Amino acid sequence: MRDIIIIDDFSNQEIEHIFQIADDMANIISSGSPRLCNGKIMSTLFYEPSTRTRLSFESAMIRLGGNVIGFAEPGSSSVAKGETLADTARVVSEYADVIVIRHPYAGAAKVVADYSEIPVINGGDGSHQHPTQTLYDLYTINKHLGRIGELKVGLCGDLRFGRTVHSLSYALARFGSEIICIAPEDLELPEHVIQRLELKYKRKVSYAEKLDDVIGDLDVLYMTRIQKERLPEDIDYRSVASRFVINKALMSKAKKQMILLHPLPRVDEITYEIDDDQRAFYFRQSAYGVRVRMALTAIVLDVLKIPTTAGSMPSSRLVTVKKRCVNPRCVVNHESYLTQKFEVISDLPPLLACVYCGEKPVDEDSDTNV
Ligand code: NCD
Repeated sequence: MRDIIIIDDFSNQEIEHIFQIADDMANIISSGSPRLCNGKIMSTLFYEPSTRTRLSFESAMIRLGGNVIGFAEPGSSSVAKGETLADTARVVSEYADVIVIRHPYAGAAKVVADYSEIPVINGGDGSHQHPTQTLYDLYTINKHLGRIGELKVGLCGDLRFGRTVHSLSYALARFGSEIICIAPEDLELPEHVIQRLELKYKRKVSYAEKLDDVIGDLDVLYMTRIQKERLPEDIDYRSVASRFVINKALMSKAKKQMILLHPLPRVDEITYEIDDDQRAFYFRQSAYGVRVRMALTAIVLDVLKIPTTAGSMPSSRLVTVKKRCVNPRCVVNHESYLTQKFEVISDLPPLLACVYCGEKPVDEDSDTNV
């Protein structure tokens, strides 16, 4: 049984196969469904707001001939009565064939996968990862630039709390692209993400203070909004908002072939005057979400297979240490039946990461917060 919890759940070759299947799905969308998932049920468990992720998964399942059940408002589910993720996972396993979950806690999708009897797809877990978003970000880049390696990619905006840039940076690093970070102070890429990029995927990250300094060199510019709802009290939204805004003047300095992406929703990072620019790809990117999610749904339901020769990522090595995850918004620090677990990212220098959220371990009695 296959889950999609982190981007490393797919190897590079598998990602390329997913692109091919997504192209086939585009034909299905235009020619009418062959009902690949006839009789199957998808359950969408959305504990956080969503427009694109939930609706595009639902659209994907319906276009595949399947059905959808679920909730978009956790207040209307038993979570309001204190039900754990583990119990929800066990119960929903009996009602559906695949679960798509979005949750405010990092690692929540892994917990559901650990307790569920059916495949689980992560639709975004806190500030951790958003692997299916990453797959259609990559699909968009590949479709329009012909490759996802050896590119210069600027990641701009809230790189600390934005989950899309975390899974995207890992994938880009694995394919050998260069990552340039442009972020407001206090919202830079977290240390544990940089360490993973450098020690696991052997990619150095570079930084720019202003978009103006780098935009002319980029093949891809990936803008993101400030994750206002995740900002801690000591960061004032007004001090970080509107720091990086793409307008016509900046776009005039970008390459003719550069593509401008955004996972959406945008707030004010991209002015509306850019929407007609040929390099503005964010609405096309979001449309591609349906075909990529059709491909992923068909794969996890085992109605379409990726070749077994497609290779897999090395599995992680777990260690037992008397430590706890430093992240106050990690699921392991909220659901009491879970135990703290860490994986080895690097032996030299030694680096451990929480298996749920990727953050570092601290002493059990430490009151350190990220
Ligand atoms: C993103 C998310 O939820 O992480 N949205 C999406 O799924 N397209 C980006 C965001 O909320 O900023």
